[in-house]
Amino acid sequence: MKINSKPGPLMAPLPTVMVSCGDMKDSNIITIAWTGIINSGPPMTYVSVQRTRHSYEIIRNSGEFVINVTTEELVKAMDYCGVKSGRDVDKFKELKLHKEKADEVACPLIAESPVNLECKVRDIKEMGTHVMFMAEIVAVHIDDKFVDDKGAYDFGNMKLVAFNHGKYYRIDSKPLGFFGYSIMKPKTAKRKRREKC
Ligand SMILES: Cc1cc2nc3c(=O)[nH]c(=O)nc-3n(C[C@H](O)[C@H](O)[C@H](O)COP(=O)(O)O)c2cc1C
Repeated sequence: MKINSKPGPLMAPLPTVMVSCGDMKDSNIITIAWTGIINSGPPMTYVSVQRTRHSYEIIRNSGEFVINVTTEELVKAMDYCGVKSGRDVDKFKELKLHKEKADEVACPLIAESPVNLECKVRDIKEMGTHVMFMAEIVAVHIDDKFVDDKGAYDFGNMKLVAFNHGKYYRIDSKPLGFFGYSIMKPKTAKRKRREKC
């Protein structure tokens, strides 16, 4: 039996990312769980931000932001960026996070995050509580520790964090399957077993 719950944003798990905005001198970080991918070509993402956030004005005025993925090492900083406002505190300074220059936007990348997506806002949708900034991913940075000699990305070992109904969980590095594994041919299964993935 299932109970009926009142309609709400009960999607789980969700990413929870650290969004940097502003410029190298005057920057801020906001934690965002209302995010995702909305298109592949061009690669598009979104962040939904409440109008009351300090970051809201910054993103609205500059039309730029950077999504920095959260790891186990960053989880406390990520939570802090989600409960403290840039109006009251310099989050980069307070958390001793390092800024790195982006290629296509003025906002800093968070050096400690292994994946940074530089984003330019292409569309804005006024929702009820939130404003949705739809943005093109114009540059991507991945820590070379997680890129093998064939150029394959190893997201499984980044100790990424997911947001699951109010709590943060590390994504375990042991995969349950992979894209399309439910219909793979025996020959492919054999090769995958050999490659141990
Ligand atoms: C896990 C988590 C997820 C959050 N997701 C969002 C979100 O998607 N949109 C939003 O507007 N605020 C979200 N918040 C709240 C903001 O991060 C928070 O209000 C923050 O202090 C705003 O910072 P700012 O005033 O410096 O912009 C989230 C907070 C946490 C802890």
